[in-house]
Amino acid sequence: MAISFSSAHALIFLVSLLICGISGVDSQPFLNSVEQESVYRVLESLNPDIPWRSLFPDDLCSSAPHGVVCGYTTMPTDTNNGTVNILELSFGYVSDHNPNPPCGPNSSLHDPFIFSSFPYLRKLFFYKCFTQQPVSLQAFSRVGSSLEELVFIDNPSLFGSLTDTIGKTNLRRLVITGTNVSGEIPNGFGTLQNLEEATLSRNRFTGTLPENVSNLKKLRILDLSQNGFEGNIPVAIGELQNLIKLDLSLNIFSGQLPESMKGLKSIELLDLSYNKFTNSGIPIYLSEMSKLKEVYLSGNELGGLIPDIWENLKGIIAIGFSGVGLVGNIPSSIGVFLGNLTYLALDNNKLTGKVPFELERLKMVNELNLKNNNLSGGLPFSGQFVSRVGRKLRVQGNPELCVDGGVIMSFYKSSGVLGQLKICNSVANSKLALLHVRGSSLIGHQVSYLVIVFLLFNIM
Ligand SMILES: *[C@@H]1O[C@H](CO)[C@@H](O)[C@H](O)[C@H]1NC(C)=O
Ligand SMILES: *[C@@H]1O[C@H](CO)[C@@H](O)[C@H](O)[C@H]1NC(C)=O
Ligand SMILES: *[C@@H]1O[C@H](CO)[C@@H](O)[C@H](O)[C@H]1NC(C)=O
Ligand SMILES: *[C@@H]1O[C@H](CO)[C@@H](O)[C@H](O)[C@H]1NC(C)=O
Ligand SMILES: *[C@@H]1O[C@H](CO)[C@@H](O)[C@H](O)[C@H]1NC(C)=O
Ligand SMILES: *[C@@H]1O[C@H](CO)[C@@H](O)[C@H](O)[C@H]1NC(C)=O
Repeated sequence: MAISFSSAHALIFLVSLLICGISGVDSQPFLNSVEQESVYRVLESLNPDIPWRSLFPDDLCSSAPHGVVCGYTTMPTDTNNGTVNILELSFGYVSDHNPNPPCGPNSSLHDPFIFSSFPYLRKLFFYKCFTQQPVSLQAFSRVGSSLEELVFIDNPSLFGSLTDTIGKTNLRRLVITGTNVSGEIPNGFGTLQNLEEATLSRNRFTGTLPENVSNLKKLRILDLSQNGFEGNIPVAIGELQNLIKLDLSLNIFSGQLPESMKGLKSIELLDLSYNKFTNSGIPIYLSEMSKLKEVYLSGNELGGLIPDIWENLKGIIAIGFSGVGLVGNIPSSIGVFLGNLTYLALDNNKLTGKVPFELERLKMVNELNLKNNNLSGGLPFSGQFVSRVGRKLRVQGNPELCVDGGVIMSFYKSSGVLGQLKICNSVANSKLALLHVRGSSLIGHQVSYLVIVFLLFNIM
């Protein structure tokens, strides 16, 4: 008998029920019948194949599926038993550690306004629940003002848009990622005074980022990546002093990067890559973001030099400046100060000059991409460094760059891609068999023009 993926999940889910036996508290009051019935109805529309009522026949505050969380909303006293209500509803099997009720393949919401039955709901969470049947985001506009977390992860058939009613909630976390939700960010967004996380990535949102996003003083995460947002970054964004992560990548934002961004004092991850930002160069004020760990600006026509700002940014672990129109040299300070750097991408620019030997001091680096520039001179890396970084050391597409014969074998052994790189003159008499030799000389460099074509590497 074949057991489908989702029924396997259901099985694990049922087994996990037995493990986490719920201890009944004698004096705890019962859940009211409206909420008890509404939980069953939500479960039945999300997964009609599981007999929810017979699996959980008792009061759902004493025995409920993982993800259905109940709690006191009025504490008991000597004379009063108190009251309990549903506080959290999480659906969709995440993992064995987080075995929420699994959603079936035809998971839907039969009563779109059912969530108005839970006046004390604080958290509503859906993981891979709405995958085929279209479900409107409107259904969730009736949640009560107690809601603090609204989370939708990978629900491709969830559609509709955010409305101003979102402003009537008390949200701390708003996560809508991997859905078919579209439209603009409504005005009500700016009134979510307690919002700490707004993750709206991988949807079909459009429009601009409103200026009054700056009202959201507690915001720590703003992720709008992979949508159709456009327009400038609002100047007021610099007022978000608690912002740790700003990800606007893969949209069509444009204009210059506002100087005010230097106000983002807490920022650790800044990803503005693949938009239409122009002409700002790499902002000098990055040096004032002293907590910065990752900065990605790739795929914008910024132009300019790589500024020498790295002494103040020693905690950086990743720099992505691919295809941003950079000119000039690679500053040696990157190698001197960024001992924790693991990722450096400067490819597809117009960088010139030598590769600074200080880059070899990047002991943590596991990806170093310099390809398709106009770098020249000898690649200053030892065989050991070349072997360690291996395939993730990319230097091809720099016609004036040459490689020391002594490290050629390291490239070869680590399956590195050299493309067409010259061998530097000093090792012209190396024992390596070279495929093609032509005499030549370059200004400032006596280089035998030894073109090596490592067809061999294409086998991988
Ligand atoms: C409180 O709980 C006790 C025991 O469960 C019950 O007998 C009593 O009627 C309850 N009181 C109220 C006010 O609900
Ligand atoms: C899902 O719904 C479709 C029609 O809406 C039906 O044909 C299909 O059998 C249903 N699948 C399951 C697993 O219930
Ligand atoms: C998303 O919405 C568009 C247009 O509203 C529709 O054509 C498309 O089928 C939807 N995709 C899914 C997965 O529901
Ligand atoms: C936010 O800004 C928009 C336009 O910039 C405005 O229409 C709206 O009323 C503002 N909302 C709040 C809450 O200030
Ligand atoms: C580099 O990384 C180590 C280990 O994660 C950390 O302890 C150290 O503070 C980092 N250095 C800087 C300058 O952030
Ligand atoms: C590369 O740099 C050399 C000087 O080092 C210059 O003559 C040449 O025009 C540059 N090529 C490109 C494509 O920028």
